[in-house]
Amino acid sequence: MYDLAIIWDWLGFAVRWLHVITAIAWIGSSFYFIALDLGLRKVPHLPPGASGEEWQVHGGGFYHIQKYLVAPETMPDHLTWFKWESYATWLSGAALLMIVYWAGGELFLLDPTKADISLFVGIVISALSLTIGWLIYDRLCKSKLGETPTLLMLLLFGMLVVMSWGYNQIFTGRAALLHLGAFTATIMTANVFFIIMPNQRIVVDDLKNGRTPDPKYGKIAKLRSTHNNYLTLPVVFLMLSNHYPLAFATANAWIIPCLVFLMGVTIRHFFNSMHARKGTPYWTWAVTALLFIAIAWLSTAPMMDSYEEAEARPLTATEQKFAAATGFEDAYYAVIGNCSMCHAREPSWDGLHHPPKGVVLETESDVARHAKLIFLQAGASHAMPPPNAIQMDDAARREIVQWYRAATSG
Ligand code: HEC
Repeated sequence: MYDLAIIWDWLGFAVRWLHVITAIAWIGSSFYFIALDLGLRKVPHLPPGASGEEWQVHGGGFYHIQKYLVAPETMPDHLTWFKWESYATWLSGAALLMIVYWAGGELFLLDPTKADISLFVGIVISALSLTIGWLIYDRLCKSKLGETPTLLMLLLFGMLVVMSWGYNQIFTGRAALLHLGAFTATIMTANVFFIIMPNQRIVVDDLKNGRTPDPKYGKIAKLRSTHNNYLTLPVVFLMLSNHYPLAFATANAWIIPCLVFLMGVTIRHFFNSMHARKGTPYWTWAVTALLFIAIAWLSTAPMMDSYEEAEARPLTATEQKFAAATGFEDAYYAVIGNCSMCHAREPSWDGLHHPPKGVVLETESDVARHAKLIFLQAGASHAMPPPNAIQMDDAARREIVQWYRAATSG
């Protein structure tokens, strides 16, 4: 007998694994090229059209790289493109978002204390917001603002601030930060897919047909890849944030990403300057540290105390099924006996000030609401309770499994 919850959990793990790998490939190659680009040296005797060169040593050999600013005079025989790193990251990320926040939306996407919407409406908002974000951003870049990059960056920052606030009005804190990351990463991949690649294809086409390519295409691509450069690190922060409730589940959760986007700029500025041999602006690390301390301080505002309100919300149909299923009483007492000292509104376990990961397991409704997580953490696996805290006996685990299966079969 197998459970859907187990299949989904493993599917989530598989896709997450893929997503992290593709993201490493994308960010790795993009950082490599940024550093290469900034570090190119103008030396005498470069071939016509070349703007700089670099020697590198790696893996037992020497590499001699020359950059042609617009294009070489003739089309080379072999050309390696860099695009699948980016596309695969977006595709696997979209799949992961669907698995965790759409299929698992009841638990991770919706927060009825913020917005009382159905799962379907939540999913529509999730999908539309990601699409519309790109459309607005692209319009801004193509407008006159494209000629004033600094102003454009400020507007882009303003847009991210608005989205951070907006997502936090509708979704759980966890989903809000994750969506802000997806919103930003969608812009980054769309920059590659809709702008940088098509422009490069035009230039390649010109070369093949003996035309002189227009340098404007390179300039447009440069603007977009500069944005990508500064957005990379904050996106990684936002993608990791769901492991840290202090980052997403406090009253100030929407302000935190705004400071993270600033850290993205200060950190990259240091490396960009260093690679361009324009000095080592160590002050950026001081600013970064101050921003990080500010974030930690902001997180000390009270946790979003929605537990009581969640209590007042009636159970959904699925949750009612769990509350009514055979074996609920037994499972409930197994949870009360093994989990509640930590997973309480006010935990009695020493050193815990908030229920871990915001998971509260005290009342019957709490247990019905968290059925799937309880099953995965304490029934199907032995992840909970922490073994050093309590040794939960197998009979109690069996009760949880039997109850979960009774509720989900048929
Ligand atoms: C001694 C304290 C303690 C006890 C007892 C305990 N937990 Fe936990 N629980 C934690 C901590 C700490 C975390 C956060 C772990 C982390 O950060 O990865 C956690 C996390 C969780 C999560 C969230 C997992 C995730 O990654 O989202 C669930 C669900 C959970 N516990 C269920 C249970 C259940 C069910 C029981 C009882 C059978 C239980 N816990 C007993 C301390 C406890």
